Amino acid sequence: MTRFHGQVAFITGAAHGQGRATALAFAREGARVAAFDVARPLAYPGYTMGSPDDLTGLEAAVRDVGSEAITFAGDVRDDAAVTAAVEATVARFGRIDVLFNNAGICAYGLAHELTEEAWDAMMDINVKGAWLVARRVIPVMIAQRAGVIINNSSIAGLRGMGRLSHYAASKWALTGLTKSWAIELAPHGIRVNSVHPTGVNTPMNDGLAALEGLTPREVAERSAGNLLPVPWVEPEDVAAAVLFLCSAESRYVTGTQYVIDAGLLTR
Ligand SMILES: NC(=O)c1ccc[n+]([C@@H]2O[C@H](COP(=O)([O-])OP(=O)(O)OC[C@H]3O[C@@H](n4cnc5c(N)ncnc54)[C@H](O)[C@@H]3O)[C@@H](O)[C@H]2O)c1
Repeated sequence: MTRFHGQVAFITGAAHGQGRATALAFAREGARVAAFDVARPLAYPGYTMGSPDDLTGLEAAVRDVGSEAITFAGDVRDDAAVTAAVEATVARFGRIDVLFNNAGICAYGLAHELTEEAWDAMMDINVKGAWLVARRVIPVMIAQRAGVIINNSSIAGLRGMGRLSHYAASKWALTGLTKSWAIELAPHGIRVNSVHPTGVNTPMNDGLAALEGLTPREVAERSAGNLLPVPWVEPEDVAAAVLFLCSAESRYVTGTQYVIDAGLLTR
């Protein structure tokens, strides 16, 4: 299937986890990929981020499935890096059809114990970063009179979660951005939706569990639990949802919150 032949997908947080899986899924379906990732350790939240080797590996993997990738090591909080990456993508590929605002961090902490640094890092990466990237991509899409933006929120963007209030606040903010951008951009033929996964089998999940001194399965078991009998979903499950939401099959879907939650929110 080549649902995205001739299209270009700009994906943040693409070095590993859901971003990488989505980049490969787009590439398999004919899209060229611009992969942006901080690709260095971050003191907060303290688990493993993507690496330059991950980006190199992704470039090769995209080539292996018959497409082309351009990669950027940069922080979504850094407007200069974001701007340069968007400009280089347009210079190389000529357009940007899809923006997957996926880069994000997660960390535990009770509200009264969080530091301001933790709060600011969470908001700056998960919310401001998504806006900084969109701010540069939107004019490209407006000029094309076409494009789709997907924000990777979370079930934490649709419910409360103890010890995750700053994370949940950042993910609810993405829900607000999604709905507001959908209103602003509909006249330009641009759709905006968010995806809301339950726990996903990624380095984030492994890293958060390790910081708790637990295995990912133990963390899944202590939470409310998915309705379907799985501890988590796979990054490819999120990728499949993102591709659907970016495809012509969903051409009249905008402003929507799409859950990939194995039924968790229904419990
Ligand atoms: N893993 C889960 O259980 C889960 C569930 C729901 C939603 N999410 C969300 O999905 C998104 C992807 O998560 P994941 O599970 O693949 O996480 P991950 O930590 O495995 O991967 C995230 C990627 O983002 C990059 N990144 C982090 N901060 C960045 C920054 N400031 N600038 C640029 N790149 C940065 C990392 O280097 C990494 O490659 C996140 O927004 C996360 O909040 C995750």
